[in-house]
Amino acid sequence: ALRRAANIHWQHVDVDQAARARIKGQQARCLWFTGLSGSGKSTIANLVEKRLLAAGHHTYLLDGDNVRHGLNKDLGFTDEDRVENIRRVAEVAKLMVDAGLIVLVSFISPFRAERRMARDLFADGEFLEVFVDTPLEVAEKRDEKGLYAKARAGLIKNFTGIDSPYETPEAAEFVLDTGENTAEALAERLAAAVLRAD
Ligand code: PPS
Repeated sequence: ALRRAANIHWQHVDVDQAARARIKGQQARCLWFTGLSGSGKSTIANLVEKRLLAAGHHTYLLDGDNVRHGLNKDLGFTDEDRVENIRRVAEVAKLMVDAGLIVLVSFISPFRAERRMARDLFADGEFLEVFVDTPLEVAEKRDEKGLYAKARAGLIKNFTGIDSPYETPEAAEFVLDTGENTAEALAERLAAAVLRAD
């Protein structure tokens, strides 16, 4: 990548992440949800955020579909655009964690290299990868947005799981089995695990 930022120096600021998190009574974290379209990432992330907020935490949910309406509306679904999509949202999540928040990120994030890049932006233990493990057959059968049908008909190109790859996580901190459990049950366990770690 081009390095355009020459003659730029890191500026020290006195208020740090620890102070910003402390006043909120929490440990700042990034909960990174990954999984196929229609896997249930957004549903579960939404339920986890509600539980954390109800427990008095300061949170923010970054959702792929929503961020693509604003910050990333110039990006499509080629490999190159997905890489840039994830790079930007990882940097935004890092800023929000620096602000002392518990940040939930819900993007397909199909490539291992970009999930690794995101993880590497954070301190040890700050980044928790959550693999929403819904098989393609199940997501496709559900097809709530009708996108799989369109992708099969050739109306959408580069659709994840159809003609664009999804690289299964190998070292996610949490693997959610959506076949065996409801979204509510999974969200409850995940929120409890995050709160226990405080
Ligand atoms: S990525 O791969 O991380 O850049 O994708 P993301 O930003 O999460 O956006 C995924 C949502 O965009 C819709 N959509 C597509 N998904 C996959 N492939 C293609 N070609 C595509 N085109 C549109 C889809 O609604 C995804 O939403 P979710 O919530 O994942 O189902």
